[in-house]
Amino acid sequence: MKAKKVMIIGGAGFIGSNIAKELLTLNHKVLVYDNFSCYIPREQSFYNFYLPKRLKRIKDKAKIVRGDVYDKPKLIDTMRDFKPEIVINMVAIPLATASDEFFEDAIQINLNGHINVLEAIRYSNSVERFLYSSSSFVYGHFKYDPADEDHPTLPIDIYGGTKLSCEILSRSFSKKFGIEHVIIRPSAVYGPTDVNRRVSQIFLEKALLGETLGLYNGGEDKVDFTYITDIAHGFVLATLSPNAANQTFNITAGEGKSAKEFAEILDKILPIKVKTEIKPTDLNRPIRGSLDISKARKLLGYEPKYQLEEGLKEYVNYIKTTGLFKKAFKK
Ligand SMILES: NC(=O)c1ccc[n+]([C@@H]2O[C@H](COP(=O)([O-])OP(=O)(O)OC[C@H]3O[C@@H](n4cnc5c(N)ncnc54)[C@H](O)[C@@H]3O)[C@@H](O)[C@H]2O)c1
Repeated sequence: MKAKKVMIIGGAGFIGSNIAKELLTLNHKVLVYDNFSCYIPREQSFYNFYLPKRLKRIKDKAKIVRGDVYDKPKLIDTMRDFKPEIVINMVAIPLATASDEFFEDAIQINLNGHINVLEAIRYSNSVERFLYSSSSFVYGHFKYDPADEDHPTLPIDIYGGTKLSCEILSRSFSKKFGIEHVIIRPSAVYGPTDVNRRVSQIFLEKALLGETLGLYNGGEDKVDFTYITDIAHGFVLATLSPNAANQTFNITAGEGKSAKEFAEILDKILPIKVKTEIKPTDLNRPIRGSLDISKARKLLGYEPKYQLEEGLKEYVNYIKTTGLFKKAFKK
């Protein structure tokens, strides 16, 4: 395949940097546009520790531009100079809780930021396809399981609302201006260099510190945890495959697992005993489950390599190599 020029907005992030890495390995040309922000207070996050590790894997081959999605002139200029054939927008406040709390910021970054990306694409004269990173939160409470891409989209929070708005605008923009779109709906991504303190990171770190894991809703609700290299590979397939044009895909592990099962796996693979306690029902989160990935399998040839236990083993092995949580690994 002829090398493609791909611009990844938010490409220094957890998922974006892994997409960049895989595209570079395949000899495509990548420009990362990112403002290097973290919506978790830095003292509570490993952002400063993991960001250089992400960048190390891509900096020799990728062009990296510090820029904000708010900065429309810079976005337009960067696109005009680099002339990407494909643009991937990964930028968001990537957490439902933070998007709900900082409602206006979520509208600015998730929604208005994406509108700026679309405008820049319109003026670029080079972009043939753009990808938008949506979320399984667009479905709201699952009405059936596994949820396929035709499941009703009834988000119950600001995060899901901004994601669905961007999906709708992406499709109408694509029709109006004749530029292909692809929408990806990931779910609960976990693995090396994540810093956003989603449940998987919190559980693993608490377990390594010997702290008790809180099982909300009795720990029974299932989530489709997806290993980082699987989601990145799904994005790469959707970036390059002609079959992806104007399609929406669930890209996940394809199997829901409960927080209780997550804790049980950690207990099996970690050198320390994992403690849990039942917590009350959290009504703020949609009740989810497994996502149906048969469309991605059929059209893209996507096949997840990691179910939760294998993915967590990889994640734990990686953390061991970082030198963090040394005490836990000495046991
Ligand atoms: N990680 C998951 O579990 C998950 C699940 C579903 C959907 N998603 C979506 O996938 C996308 C990427 O998620 P992630 O986990 O890699 O998040 P991330 O926070 O690691 O990556 C987002 C990147 O965007 C950059 N960014 C943020 N605001 C910016 C701005 N104003 N201008 C320029 N750059 C900006 C950040 O610096 C960061 O590098 C997000 O849109 C998220 O909502 C993630």
